[in-house]
Amino acid sequence: QAQATWGGRFSAGPAGLMQRFSESVSFDHRLAPFDIAGSKAHSAMLAHVGLISKQERDAIHGGLDAILAEINAGKFKWRTELEDVHMNIEQALTQRVPAAAKLHTARSRNDQVATDMRLWFKAACAELSAKIADAQRAILAIAAKNQTVLIPGYTHLQRAQPVFLAHHLFAYLEMLQRDAGRFAVVADHANWCPLGSGAIAGTTLPIDREFTAKTLGFVDAKGRPRVTQNSMDTVADRDVFIEFAAACATTGVHLSRMAEDLILWMSSEFGFVDLPDTFCTGSSLMPQKKNPDSMELIRGKSARLQGNLHTLLTLAKGLPLTYNRDLQEDKPPVFDSHDQTALCLDVLAGTFAGMQVKAARCAAAVSDPALLATDLADYLVRQGVPFRTAHHAVGAVVKLAEQKGVALNQLSLSDVQSVHPAYQADWVESFDLAKAMARRAGTGMPSPAQLRRQFARWQKQLA
Ligand code: ARG
Repeated sequence: QAQATWGGRFSAGPAGLMQRFSESVSFDHRLAPFDIAGSKAHSAMLAHVGLISKQERDAIHGGLDAILAEINAGKFKWRTELEDVHMNIEQALTQRVPAAAKLHTARSRNDQVATDMRLWFKAACAELSAKIADAQRAILAIAAKNQTVLIPGYTHLQRAQPVFLAHHLFAYLEMLQRDAGRFAVVADHANWCPLGSGAIAGTTLPIDREFTAKTLGFVDAKGRPRVTQNSMDTVADRDVFIEFAAACATTGVHLSRMAEDLILWMSSEFGFVDLPDTFCTGSSLMPQKKNPDSMELIRGKSARLQGNLHTLLTLAKGLPLTYNRDLQEDKPPVFDSHDQTALCLDVLAGTFAGMQVKAARCAAAVSDPALLATDLADYLVRQGVPFRTAHHAVGAVVKLAEQKGVALNQLSLSDVQSVHPAYQADWVESFDLAKAMARRAGTGMPSPAQLRRQFARWQKQLA
């Protein structure tokens, strides 16, 4: 019969219903490697300051290593009646080594769980950053394979101006790069060691917080230990949870917007790309259907990521300092955000890796000379016409072409000169797509020369 570690002042154990209600081991067991790392560092510190002997430390370490091996082998028996990952591991250690009874000296589950989570956040951010880079590499490969493909760029989902497909894809790389930057910031914010804060007010025992922090890798760039500076804030603070969920939600918004582009591009109406069979599904009724379910699910899961962020904000907002058991509910949304973001990034990378670009459909879509109406206005500007006048003079030409039922570049010189005298014989050169692209030569613009620069930059960045 399991004896709750806090059972001393109780004459009755928790009801079965209460046990099921209050347990968290069903989801926090995944913290085990971090919990064990924290306990090893804590016991090393206790030995360092003489609160336990070196033999006791070694016995604790040996026991914890054996427990971790059992967990990794799937042989550890998690018990819900022991509430959470912390008590499960401590209890298992107690059964192995007598020194286990000293492990919780100068420690509370409140600073323990804060430590476990901060270690988890650092690992999770590194993992998601690596997955972001994988997705970026898949996108870069598609851009590299289709360097000469032009498509219409859209505003208001109306054809606006021609862009290289690669320029559009590089926009995705920028979005994902900012996401990676956010995860790096979250990891940095997690990089402060809570241990030593105790339940709320530290401990009367002479511990060495800096020793523990160093042992666990909570250090700055110069290797100096980083320990949290207020024990009450430390056990109450859930900022990093919110920031992590926000970084996942923002990544989710980006992935959702990319997914929406691909869904549109794969439709018969656009027909710019074909997504791989391996990331599409069929219809149970309509034999001809091939649906971009992977992208639709990414769009759907981004809603879930936003919900998780909202859960965490609401969870924290009304709580008095410091720890309240409500905070146990912080973990499911955080873990879910991590798991779903990781999945979405993998699926996006896989879908891009198998994507085929339909060059002929893209070329047809970008062939309308009206997409270069802005270039024609710029032509008039080069003739000395003020832009507002030029804009109007091109608009009138567009209207004229519409009335005559011809493409913009099929109007005659006298047609356009009837609108504005600044049009010269070379006015039609504005519709030369290759020249038009070459003119977009500034930083951040889609000229071939700029694209080559961006290719080089991303290849280096993602190497
Ligand atoms: N399982 C708890 C949680 O996740 C650990 C901290 C429990 N602390 C306490 N005072 N009951 O929040």
